[in-house]
Amino acid sequence: MLLQQSGFGIAVTGSGSCTPQVTLDNNGLSQMVETSDEWIVARTGIRYRRLADDRTSLCDLAVTAARRAIEMARLAPADIDLIVLATSSPDDLFGSAGQIQYQLGATKAVAFDLTAACSGFVFGLVTASQFIRTGVYQNVLLIGADILSRWVNWSDRGTCILFGDGAGAVVLQAAETDSLLGFEIRSDGTQNASLNLAYKAESKALIEGVTIGQGGFHPITMNGQEIYRFAVKKVPEVIEKAVFRANISVAEIDWLLLHQANQRILDAVAQRLNIPAQKVISNLANYGNTSAASIPIALDEAVREGKIKRGDTIAAAGFGAGLSWGCAIFQWGASK
Ligand code: UT7
Repeated sequence: MLLQQSGFGIAVTGSGSCTPQVTLDNNGLSQMVETSDEWIVARTGIRYRRLADDRTSLCDLAVTAARRAIEMARLAPADIDLIVLATSSPDDLFGSAGQIQYQLGATKAVAFDLTAACSGFVFGLVTASQFIRTGVYQNVLLIGADILSRWVNWSDRGTCILFGDGAGAVVLQAAETDSLLGFEIRSDGTQNASLNLAYKAESKALIEGVTIGQGGFHPITMNGQEIYRFAVKKVPEVIEKAVFRANISVAEIDWLLLHQANQRILDAVAQRLNIPAQKVISNLANYGNTSAASIPIALDEAVREGKIKRGDTIAAAGFGAGLSWGCAIFQWGASK
């Protein structure tokens, strides 16, 4: 899978992010469930998370993040050809990307949702890049956004301490040189039960002999230890595979940008790959696990802080429900 072959390269030219105003700290959580700031910090590294109130929609967060990314790329919304919204918590199960297209004024863009939980951003990056690589589209907006607070069981201390809400976005553009160096994305449905936000139906008879199932989605359930083990085993492997495809070495990675799930996972993955801590991007202390939004929020912060510079090589890896996991290796910014 030599990406450069088709002749259409990809440049990542803009980033943006948006998180809700409301902050919940660990002490606030300890008023709700039996936990403590010490336990949460020691086991996860998380201190704060931002939560969307009932007036804040997923589209609100996504549109703000998207506008910032489009502005950084020096484009106008009307220049965008395609919008991919990676989310597991849309405002509308029929999809929220169309509403975002409308609110942005991205009049010529086609827009759709993509669901791959916490791997959504990486899966979205790979998906979006195919449209550029084949020469079909030039300017693509990729958004990762989730409001998992809508779906957390706030009395389950094993999960409610982890999640926060937010949105991040990037603009991908057709370019002569190719900044998407390699990728690898994977799925394993055999472990699906380890992390669910499942629909549960109740039987309802419409007329004699015609029964349908109607119910709703139930809060997130997770086997934390299983997911932890899965992440520290599979994420280093998939990064190594993507590094191989990119034809670089692990030492050439400037920034390890993992899905921000747990500091211990970030540390363990970096250690397995022999990547020094200074190269690991981490902002989960402030936001917790924002699912599909965590990678683009962390990317955007690091870019705006001046940490990530043009030409830097980034290994972005997502992992989560499905189970799904994947890594994309790309260089930041338009080519010089
Ligand atoms: O996007 C992917 C999403 N998911 C993840 O990334 C989750 C990956 N897993 C994890 O991050 C960790 O497994 C957790 C942070 C969820 C849990 O940490 P752990 O070190 O695996 O703890 P544990 O589940 O083994 O629980 C250890 C103890 C248990 O008590 P006992 O049985 O030893 O008495 C739990 O009941 O800690 C207890 N516990 C808590 N105590 C205080 C579990 N949650 C809490 C809590 N506060 N919030």
